[in-house]
Amino acid sequence: MATVRRPILVLGATGRQGGSVVKGLRKIQWPVRAFVRDPSDPASIALREASAEIVHGSLEDSDTIASAMKDVHGVFSVLPANLSADDEVRYGTLIADLAAESQIDHFIYSSGASVGDKLTGIPRFDAKPRIEAHIRALPLTATIVRPMIFMEMLVRPGFGLEEGRLISLIRPDHSIQLTAVDDIGKIVAAMFVDKARFAGLTLKIASDRVTGHELESIFTEAADKPITYARFSDDVLAANGDLAHMASSLEDGPLAEHVDLKLMREINPEVVSLRSWLRGAGRTQLKEALHRGKV
Ligand SMILES: NC(=O)c1ccc[n+]([C@@H]2O[C@H](COP(=O)([O-])OP(=O)(O)OC[C@H]3O[C@@H](n4cnc5c(N)ncnc54)[C@H](OP(=O)(O)O)[C@@H]3O)[C@@H](O)[C@H]2O)c1
Repeated sequence: MATVRRPILVLGATGRQGGSVVKGLRKIQWPVRAFVRDPSDPASIALREASAEIVHGSLEDSDTIASAMKDVHGVFSVLPANLSADDEVRYGTLIADLAAESQIDHFIYSSGASVGDKLTGIPRFDAKPRIEAHIRALPLTATIVRPMIFMEMLVRPGFGLEEGRLISLIRPDHSIQLTAVDDIGKIVAAMFVDKARFAGLTLKIASDRVTGHELESIFTEAADKPITYARFSDDVLAANGDLAHMASSLEDGPLAEHVDLKLMREINPEVVSLRSWLRGAGRTQLKEALHRGKV
């Protein structure tokens, strides 16, 4: 007889990571309960059409989170990027506390790849490690994932593609590890399937590793026109604390630590290279980026 699986509650389900987890779980036919702020939003309607159960709630309302956790197998927790450090810690620890009280089977928290072993003393960089430490101290079967920089970040405004350039954070001969957001969902789904293997682990996740020179050749091929690669200038980095923090983390901090891509492929055999992402899921975003501002 087929096992009846209890649902996974997915927070941030209308967003990038949560949406990817919904897709990853539905692909293996695991029931999903999607936590949304606005059930009438087109993104929520699309989730319902993908056979997710919709629950209406907000991070500001702990009762709605607690009731959404009723009778679920697991919870995927990801927090929006635009929170203050205090709110991020408050919501991240609250969600984990409620999950521990609900006695769910498996909790997966999406943290950040720039998290290292030591706190930096800067509140916004320390929010995720503080949430991680809180989760580890709870009586909760948990896995923490730390996704590397999203491929989607390279095709956003401000990275120069519309002018035939790609500006990013690494020196041309250094490498950067990138994650296709779709791969996060596939990896998280595999982790829910194999709780015994992944319980208690903290795992950096990535899809590909490329140098600055390779970024130039891969984007030139995908755009079908020359794209030159350059690192942000020292002046730009000096004026932007977040970019500077990431650039230094990519040189010799947590973002420079190599993710085991063979392991990634073993967990998620469909893991994509940057080259194949630009031809597939990233194609539309690349085209938009190349033609941005042109009529
Ligand atoms: N590795 C990287 O390159 C990278 C890049 C970007 C972000 N990140 C990290 O990824 C995390 C953000 O994940 P994401 O990119 O998937 O976010 P996202 O696409 O911006 O989605 C945020 C989600 O949170 C929901 N949300 C916002 N405020 C809420 C509230 N008050 N109550 C309930 N739900 C709320 C949003 O719902 P609505 O649809 O209603 O707004 C949406 O579903 C952050 O931790 C950020 O640091 C990493």
